[in-house]
Amino acid sequence: MFSSSITSYVIAIIAFLLHTSAYGQDRTINAEINPGCNNCSLESTLVYIRAEGQTDTIHQVWDFTRGIPTIILAVSGTNSTMQIAWDGIRPVNFTMNETVRYSFATAIDKLDLLPYKDYATELPHLIHTANSTLVDISLVNLTTSRYYNSSRFALHLVLVSTDSATDTMHNVMRKSLDDEHTPGVFEIIEIKTPASLSSEAGGFVQFRPVGYTQRARNVGSSTIAHVSDFNRTSLPDWSTLKTFYRGFDEGNLLVQDMVVCFGEPGDGFYKRYNYTAWSYTIGYGAPPIEGFSLFVIVIISVGLGVPVLLALSGVLYAVRRKYRHNAHTQLTNED
Ligand SMILES: *[C@@H]1O[C@H](CO)[C@@H](O)[C@H](O)[C@H]1NC(C)=O
Ligand SMILES: *[C@@H]1O[C@H](CO)[C@@H](O)[C@H](O)[C@H]1NC(C)=O
Ligand SMILES: *[C@@H]1O[C@H](CO)[C@@H](O)[C@H](O)[C@H]1NC(C)=O
Ligand SMILES: *[C@@H]1O[C@H](CO)[C@@H](O)[C@H](O)[C@H]1NC(C)=O
Ligand SMILES: *[C@@H]1O[C@H](CO)[C@@H](O)[C@H](O)[C@H]1NC(C)=O
Ligand SMILES: *[C@@H]1O[C@H](CO)[C@@H](O)[C@H](O)[C@H]1NC(C)=O
Ligand SMILES: *[C@@H]1O[C@H](CO)[C@@H](O)[C@H](O)[C@H]1NC(C)=O
Ligand SMILES: *[C@@H]1O[C@H](CO)[C@@H](O)[C@H](O)[C@H]1NC(C)=O
Ligand SMILES: *[C@@H]1O[C@H](CO)[C@@H](O)[C@H](O)[C@H]1NC(C)=O
Repeated sequence: MFSSSITSYVIAIIAFLLHTSAYGQDRTINAEINPGCNNCSLESTLVYIRAEGQTDTIHQVWDFTRGIPTIILAVSGTNSTMQIAWDGIRPVNFTMNETVRYSFATAIDKLDLLPYKDYATELPHLIHTANSTLVDISLVNLTTSRYYNSSRFALHLVLVSTDSATDTMHNVMRKSLDDEHTPGVFEIIEIKTPASLSSEAGGFVQFRPVGYTQRARNVGSSTIAHVSDFNRTSLPDWSTLKTFYRGFDEGNLLVQDMVVCFGEPGDGFYKRYNYTAWSYTIGYGAPPIEGFSLFVIVIISVGLGVPVLLALSGVLYAVRRKYRHNAHTQLTNED
């Protein structure tokens, strides 16, 4: 759960329909908000996306109903469907009418303060395909206790995949030749599931090791994103992950977590700007190397006020400018 110091978080969602000619693989994408829920207000937000391909369909669930931002991918047959049962405002049962061939999920289950931690030690430009989603997180004006005035925030990321429970996720660092949009940052970190490492038929998380301390993302506002090792853990109680994976064999469910934190020496800690932003791509298949077919963007903003509208318009503008030439976009905007 997010700590109680967080008074609100706001989500805004953009879904883009696109053609993925770069890969010769088209997926028909449909997005719905709170499907099957008769009594949901805007307080509960679950976005369901069905991306139907020629050989399989990727079902995506973005869930914000329990305070733990969660993204679940489930790969199943082309004609497979997912039904969601609700208890009024929260999903309580996910039913697929065909077997799930593979599933991968991430959730941000905790936001931690790291007091007095310092490190001895710039805008991510990540690529999206029909199989992946960009997640952008901003931590804005979080009220921090004065006892923690020299502190930074850390994101706890839970990773789940339908791989053997005794296996492990892999952290693979790749060098990129392109730093056009991330000046000075040539590294790309890929967290790969065992299936992704061995055959690329698995889940991955991809990001540049960089966060931003101001809304304007440039070299001057960038800071280092540190990534911890993986620890084995279990599905968080009362989470949508727990609900979704209830029927799965536990021996066949790899659950690990990792911590991502931000900062470098002498940067004045979080309170210097009261702002930290980070983004990552989550997907299925081969992590993208090049090609620019944008699928979807999720924006999660944690903090006071409603900074999201500003951020959103900025993103929209950038994205529109970028993709105007090569993609027809359909916008589903919820707020
Ligand atoms: C999916 O449904 C379509 C149309 O009903 C059908 O032509 C196709 O054979 C089905 N595919 C599978 C794998 O069942
Ligand atoms: C799942 O439901 C879809 C849509 O109703 C149908 O086309 C498909 O055949 C179903 N799959 C199975 C295995 O029943
Ligand atoms: C629907 O929401 C209203 C108000 O929140 C509540 O009183 C009612 O019991 C809910 N109905 C169901 C079926 O959950
Ligand atoms: C979930 O739904 C399926 C199909 O409707 C049903 O068989 C199962 O018992 C339900 N599980 C729970 C925990 O409600
Ligand atoms: C927090 O900042 C105040 C004022 O700058 C200072 O007096 C206090 O000692 C600091 N607290 C800690 C725990 O560093
Ligand atoms: C992993 O677990 C060890 C021992 O419980 C702990 O010291 C360490 O901080 C944990 N690492 C992460 C990333 O949670
Ligand atoms: C950040 O928030 C803290 C505590 O609310 C405040 O003392 C500080 O001045 C703020 N910094 C900025 C740059 O707004
Ligand atoms: C997307 O997934 C399909 C199979 O689900 C795979 O064949 C294809 O290579 C993937 N695309 C990318 C770009 O990874
Ligand atoms: C954050 O706090 C600063 C300084 O108090 C204020 O100018 C800014 O509008 C706040 N941002 C949001 C999103 O509330």
